[in-house]
Amino acid sequence: MKFFIDTANLDQIKEAQDLGVLDGVTTNPSLMAKEGITGDENVINHYKAICDIVDDNVSAEVIATDYEGIVKEGEALAALNPKIVVKVPMIKEGLKAIKYFSSKGIRTNCTLIFSPAQALLAAKAGATYVSPFLGRLDDISTDGLTLIEDIRLIFDNYGYETQILAASIRGPLHIVSCAKIGADVITAPLSAITGLLKHPLTDSGLATFLADHAKAAGK
Ligand code: E4P
Repeated sequence: MKFFIDTANLDQIKEAQDLGVLDGVTTNPSLMAKEGITGDENVINHYKAICDIVDDNVSAEVIATDYEGIVKEGEALAALNPKIVVKVPMIKEGLKAIKYFSSKGIRTNCTLIFSPAQALLAAKAGATYVSPFLGRLDDISTDGLTLIEDIRLIFDNYGYETQILAASIRGPLHIVSCAKIGADVITAPLSAITGLLKHPLTDSGLATFLADHAKAAGK
């Protein structure tokens, strides 16, 4: 399973990269705004800075919502760096643009997926990734994990190569559940990724080992 970090914060991206388990980054307009990145030039420079940190898979989201606009913006983003994956919303014009990008060999991440039907359409159009938003479904008392399971079943039924990128992850348990279901990728905040490290028995066990070592050494 691939691990992406879901942020536009360069320090957090570096920290995750240094952990040695990072495969990519997802951003969105809200995450860019949170970091105070505004204006076309700043946004472009920020994507370049992210590409300088990670090895591959930097999702850069288009703002346009019409076919021509999405294609123009997506081509410009893809030309920035081969690591860029063009992130396109699951709307009719977006679907058409994904088909176009796929025919040109430009990788895409179809975002804002909330149903198996939307994932099926994106896969048929040739999306590289589909991003089902797990946490946002959980937030409205709908089981987000069932959506991941349904998409897994459909993609396996037909051998679609589109990868399931479980998004809107809230914590480490979401990541483990996605791994059990067979999501190809998770994108999560740094806290959810580092949360995977934690277990109280690890901490108490290590404290005992170090104390016993010190006692035996007569310290
Ligand atoms: C996916 O690519 C999105 O950036 C993200 O996972 C949205 O998550 P949120 O629900 O935490 O905003």
